[in-house]
Amino acid sequence: MRFTVVTLFAEMFESVLSTSVLGKAIEAGHVQVDFVNPRDFATDKHRSVDDTPYGGGPGMVMKCDCLLAAIEEAGKGSNPHRILLSPVGQTLNHARAVDLAKLEHIVMVCGRYEGVDERVVELGIDESLSIGDYVLTGGELGAMVIIDAVSRFVPEVLGHADSAVDESFSDGLLEYPQYTRPVEYAGVAVPDVLLSGNHAKIDEWRREKSLERTALHRPELLHQSATKVAELARRTYVILAHHPVLDRNGEIVTTSVTNYDIHDIARSCATYGVAGYYPVSPIRLQREKISRIIEIWRKEIHQAGAADRGQALGTIAVQDSIASAVDEIARRETSQPWVVATSAQQSAAHKKVTYADLVAQRVANDRPLVLVLGTGWGLHQSVLDVADQQLAPLSGVGDFNHLSVRSALAAMLDRLFGQ
Ligand SMILES: C[S@@+](CC[C@H](N)C(=O)[O-])C[C@H]1O[C@@H](n2cnc3c(N)ncnc32)[C@H](O)[C@@H]1O
Repeated sequence: MRFTVVTLFAEMFESVLSTSVLGKAIEAGHVQVDFVNPRDFATDKHRSVDDTPYGGGPGMVMKCDCLLAAIEEAGKGSNPHRILLSPVGQTLNHARAVDLAKLEHIVMVCGRYEGVDERVVELGIDESLSIGDYVLTGGELGAMVIIDAVSRFVPEVLGHADSAVDESFSDGLLEYPQYTRPVEYAGVAVPDVLLSGNHAKIDEWRREKSLERTALHRPELLHQSATKVAELARRTYVILAHHPVLDRNGEIVTTSVTNYDIHDIARSCATYGVAGYYPVSPIRLQREKISRIIEIWRKEIHQAGAADRGQALGTIAVQDSIASAVDEIARRETSQPWVVATSAQQSAAHKKVTYADLVAQRVANDRPLVLVLGTGWGLHQSVLDVADQQLAPLSGVGDFNHLSVRSALAAMLDRLFGQ
């Protein structure tokens, strides 16, 4: 793999490229790094590479003529991928580093001063990359970061074949804690499991710690991991309560079943991979009505030849109370579920959970998840009181906040499991 760096300060790279893993990779010829100095392409007698910005403003801007000539020289004889180090670019991450390592030749352009003339980007750059949301005095440190991060994925560069596979970000998670001798230091001991010699148990412990650390420090990583979110959806259930709910006066009532709440919520659950949908009513006739609604929809769907929609109705299982639905889910999962109530109102602070935090917690925990939604004017306080947590309410930009329960559920599922 070859890198050519367009820079005014090649000397900055010396120690980084001659030390440790990178030094050995370069010596062995697995990685090659060359430099082109834009000053060599300056045309005036002072060999200047920068000038004042049009429109005024502080500092100097790198000129396009000498920089573009240097980029052309850097790519001579090959068809390189040309990167500008810039705080304006996408931030480098694990996935991008893995992809860049598949390229044969990368040219990296290091800006200085206030940055580079925009025509350099238009005419000579394929991608702008940042190394973080802060401003450096020049692109050289960024170029070194890219060389280091990308070279690790060049075959032969790392000694142990699995080193780059078994690390933070490689499977969307942060790495588990590592220990080496001594077994105890300053009263802090290495966890027993790591000394047990039981590799299945060690793997299990490491995965658990990985999930725990990611949930604690970088919950958004869990959210980005489609497989983990899909696993969570497969352990998630929706309960639609027709009792105990509130009427417009805040009185406790039992609402009657709405046809579309049965049909549409089943479709949302199927779309987001939710394991089961439990409409709940204590009234036998209402439960029969639900079964009848399912039957009617099945028939219509069958006649329309829309088998996939019929399949969505298969996730429905009617129950007479929230408690019996939760018991049924516990039996099905052989584990007590984590019950999360929903409401358009703010909850007590100790129960409140955001969408991102709920995903992070649940992915790191084996217990299945149950979302409880109320019909009418929402769930009665007694349900909110016994729930383990309450999801932060959905809200738009104005004061009006009256989503139908089926619309609210679709929005919730998208926030929890949407890609
Ligand atoms: C002082 S900075 C210019 C900052 C520019 N005026 C701005 O506000 O976006 C000089 C050069 O450092 C490099 N640089 C600064 N911060 C960077 C970052 N976070 N990632 C990559 N390169 C960076 C770029 O090459 C940039 O052209």
